[in-house]
Amino acid sequence: MEITPIPRETITTARLVLRPSTGADAQRAFEIQSDWAVTRMLRMASFPPDRAEIEAWFADHPREWAAGEAYRFAALRDGRMIGLVDLDEIADGEGEIGYWFEPASWGRGFASEAARAVVGFAFAEAGLSMLRSGHAADNAASGRVLERLGFHLLDRVERPSRSCGETILQCRYRLPRENFAECGRLFDKTDAQTL
Ligand SMILES: CC(C)(COP(=O)(O)OP(=O)(O)OC[C@H]1O[C@@H](n2cnc3c(N)ncnc32)[C@H](O)[C@@H]1OP(=O)(O)O)[C@@H](O)C(=O)NCCC(=O)NCCS
Repeated sequence: MEITPIPRETITTARLVLRPSTGADAQRAFEIQSDWAVTRMLRMASFPPDRAEIEAWFADHPREWAAGEAYRFAALRDGRMIGLVDLDEIADGEGEIGYWFEPASWGRGFASEAARAVVGFAFAEAGLSMLRSGHAADNAASGRVLERLGFHLLDRVERPSRSCGETILQCRYRLPRENFAECGRLFDKTDAQTL
């Protein structure tokens, strides 16, 4: 089936610019993921990070976007990348949201602010009707981000973590489009009737 690509639009929030990521973001991503406090929470990441792997992954982001496979945003604060928020595993109207930020920016609501905007994008622009997410059981901060957006806990399952090199307990969440409070506002610019 022919896919009509979504324009690579930048989203502006109160304090952040969320710009579709490219290969040019790989160096900052490598720096951020060089911190164990970040990467230990990323189940699919390697630690220490593999520079070539990160470069190849970021270089592929524009293709993923065009193919409708994943939408990934570099979160910029005063022009500097402080994190990434992405939607991937997109299929059958569903997708998974993930995010990570540099520790120096934690605790100021940036992840919540950025994730809220990307959830809005997922439902209003990308046409998804359900989002999934998950976090390690000892990652309460990520759980708070998800709960504030309306995600509900589905279950807890044991899953392998590449970065930790062992099985971890993961809390898995769901957010149906109708449960996202901000959705109506974000639909103002398109057609609220399509909800
Ligand atoms: C998870 C992460 C993205 C949160 O980023 P952040 O910008 O600090 O998040 P916010 O400030 O928007 O919100 C964090 C919330 O968690 C709470 N929190 C922070 N540390 C906490 C802790 N140890 N226990 C309980 N709650 C905690 C904060 O109080 C806040 O909740 P509140 O707004 O209700 O007070 C960031 O810690 C990070 O990048 N971690 C490493 C990578 C990661 O875990 N990614 C997610 C993988 S599932």
